[in-house]
Amino acid sequence: MLKTLLIFLGILAVGWTASLGATGDDPLVCKSEDELWGGEDIRKFYFCIDGQVIEDWCDQDYYFVNNATFSGCLQASLLNPQCVNLDAAEPDCEGLSARQPQPSASLNKFYLCTNEGAKELSCGQDEAFVNQDGYLGCFTWTMWRMLRNCTDD
Ligand SMILES: *[C@@H]1O[C@H](CO)[C@@H](O)[C@H](O)[C@H]1NC(C)=O
Ligand SMILES: *[C@@H]1O[C@H](CO)[C@@H](O)[C@H](O)[C@H]1NC(C)=O
Repeated sequence: MLKTLLIFLGILAVGWTASLGATGDDPLVCKSEDELWGGEDIRKFYFCIDGQVIEDWCDQDYYFVNNATFSGCLQASLLNPQCVNLDAAEPDCEGLSARQPQPSASLNKFYLCTNEGAKELSCGQDEAFVNQDGYLGCFTWTMWRMLRNCTDD
């Protein structure tokens, strides 16, 4: 029993490592000794101290931008509108919103209408909500960036 569990956990760990590598940019490699850099998850950024990568988060409603003029966390209203849900609000659960999940101002969350009204739910880890070009649901941040056409610079 214990052995089976350990094997199962082992498989999970391998899958997890594989999915980390699959994002295409490995945050664990020190990319710069003196500049911040972003990852696929627009809420996070990385920097290096003595060859060690440190991961950090922007404050709530701030997102990481790194382009020719700016490097750091910017408030949502100053970002490329493709990257943020500025007009997201709790749905009234009438019409379409009664049947389809709706975006939240928090990119990794969404609203779902239930018999008790709208509930805000979270996507899985390392996922964000998309309603774009026929894609509806939670996708990896890499996919999210592609579908939203939200890339740095
Ligand atoms: C850098 O990003 C910010 C926020 O998206 C934008 O306002 C600014 O125009 C960008 N600068 C360049 C050179 O793209
Ligand atoms: C994606 O965004 C860039 C810059 O905002 C724009 O030049 C390009 O046409 C966009 N591509 C699509 C497919 O929307």
